[in-house]
Amino acid sequence: MELRNGTAIITGGGKGIGKAAALKLAESGVHLGLIARSSADLEALREQLTSEFGTKVFIASADISKKDEAEKAVRSLVEQLGSLSILINNAGIAKFGTLAEMEPTEWEQIIQTNVMGTYYVTRAALPTMLEQQSGSIINIASTAGERGFATGSAYCASKFAVMGMTEALMQEVRKSNIRVTALTPSTVNTELAVKAGLKIGDEDRMMQPEDVADLIMATLQLPPRVFVKTAGIWTTNPQ
Ligand SMILES: NC(=O)c1ccc[n+]([C@@H]2O[C@H](COP(=O)([O-])OP(=O)(O)OC[C@H]3O[C@@H](n4cnc5c(N)ncnc54)[C@H](OP(=O)(O)O)[C@@H]3O)[C@@H](O)[C@H]2O)c1
Repeated sequence: MELRNGTAIITGGGKGIGKAAALKLAESGVHLGLIARSSADLEALREQLTSEFGTKVFIASADISKKDEAEKAVRSLVEQLGSLSILINNAGIAKFGTLAEMEPTEWEQIIQTNVMGTYYVTRAALPTMLEQQSGSIINIASTAGERGFATGSAYCASKFAVMGMTEALMQEVRKSNIRVTALTPSTVNTELAVKAGLKIGDEDRMMQPEDVADLIMATLQLPPRVFVKTAGIWTTNPQ
């Protein structure tokens, strides 16, 4: 599928996997709307993308865990882009600790960002795709959305929810030619992984955000008659 001159919104587009996806999409000629809380990250990336690739880049500093902010950001980006061919629900947070030890506020923030944020953004973007009768939605879930592990109760609950939401939405909108995909990376060498204390090991062998971005691009480039339902991507030989 030809991506050039398409339009994409990426949540968490300021760093990590979202930034890597923004770079690859811009290189392919896709115009972008980027959402994150830090406007400094977004402004720096907009500068880089417009000078390197000449694509249009619009930014919205917003906290997707807040319904009104998420909706306002999506509406303004769709209006500036003029259409929406791709939505990448990537923004997410992680924190690990036993269920007994973690504070309810920490648990709530993970669910509110990873689950409710994904829902608010998708709900705001969907009318445009339904009107177009086309579009691709990629939700960045995790291996934590496929299996539970000790200290991962909040993060696993959030990513299992993303997997369920993705599959249910897929069944709702595939008849409108909208493709909905869940990707489930294992640990990726990003700030999120480092801050959450995940084992990175030998950085050269470790999965990089660009590797996940390559999977995103491969998923999007499939002919419109097919879509990837779910796909995992793992480090081959972590140390
Ligand atoms: N790294 C891994 O090992 C790994 C593995 C599997 C899946 N994932 C998933 O991949 C996604 C991206 O993670 P990453 O590793 O690339 O993380 P990252 O480097 O920490 O980047 C996360 C991005 O999301 C944004 N973000 C976080 N909370 C937000 C909020 N409430 N509203 C708006 N933007 C928000 C951050 O910007 P601001 O802080 O400026 O808002 C940042 O741009 C997440 O959903 C994560 O769960 C990561």
